[in-house]
Amino acid sequence: MAKPFDLRDFVLSSPRETDSFGHTIGRVLQGGDVLALLGELGAGKTALVRGIVAGLGGSVASVTSPTFALVHEYQGRLPLIHLDLYRLKRVDEAESIGLSACFTDEAVTAIEWADRFPDLLPVDRLEMRLIHRTRTTRMVQLEAQGARSRSLLMRIHKACHARSLSARLPRSRTRLRRKASQR
Ligand SMILES: Nc1ncnc2c1ncn2[C@@H]1O[C@H](COP(=O)(O)OP(=O)(O)OP(=O)(O)O)[C@@H](O)[C@H]1O
Ligand SMILES: [Mg+2]
Repeated sequence: MAKPFDLRDFVLSSPRETDSFGHTIGRVLQGGDVLALLGELGAGKTALVRGIVAGLGGSVASVTSPTFALVHEYQGRLPLIHLDLYRLKRVDEAESIGLSACFTDEAVTAIEWADRFPDLLPVDRLEMRLIHRTRTTRMVQLEAQGARSRSLLMRIHKACHARSLSARLPRSRTRLRRKASQR
């Protein structure tokens, strides 16, 4: 089995940055990818899913924690199945919502409170732990558990790198222009 592969201590310094990180992830997702979202109440799991749905080209207006419905589905470049296991108490309850049918190559699945029933989830999943830092700051740690999620993590890495390069470009151009006008 492939070793876990991780991205540690990635700081999300505002809700906007979490949204933008989700957007980056949404753009590189492929059918069959499974995102296991971990973190306490209010850690930002749903906020991240909102960004992911936007990155998939879906409408974010209806993205909320599926705490009562347990399952939501959003349409975009790929369907995203959004689950929340917080309220489930027993394995048979989790099975009764048709959990296993939520993992398909035709869709992406994101599960809030995935640590409630780890044994019911595909082994190959990208674990995304959100950690509360300050009122507006979160930290995210990503850990791939198999070949598919490792490939996803590499795509996320690449996309984040490309984004940070393109974010830096306009600033350095502005600086160059300013220097030229000061001469
Ligand atoms: N950097 C940040 N990233 C994400 N959310 C943030 C950040 N800073 C502050 N917040 C706030 O934290 C809250 C996160 O709520 P969210 O519903 O996404 O949490 P959750 O992890 O899904 O909680 P629950 O387990 O109750 O479903 C929002 O009110 C959001 O505005
Ligand atoms: Mg939530």
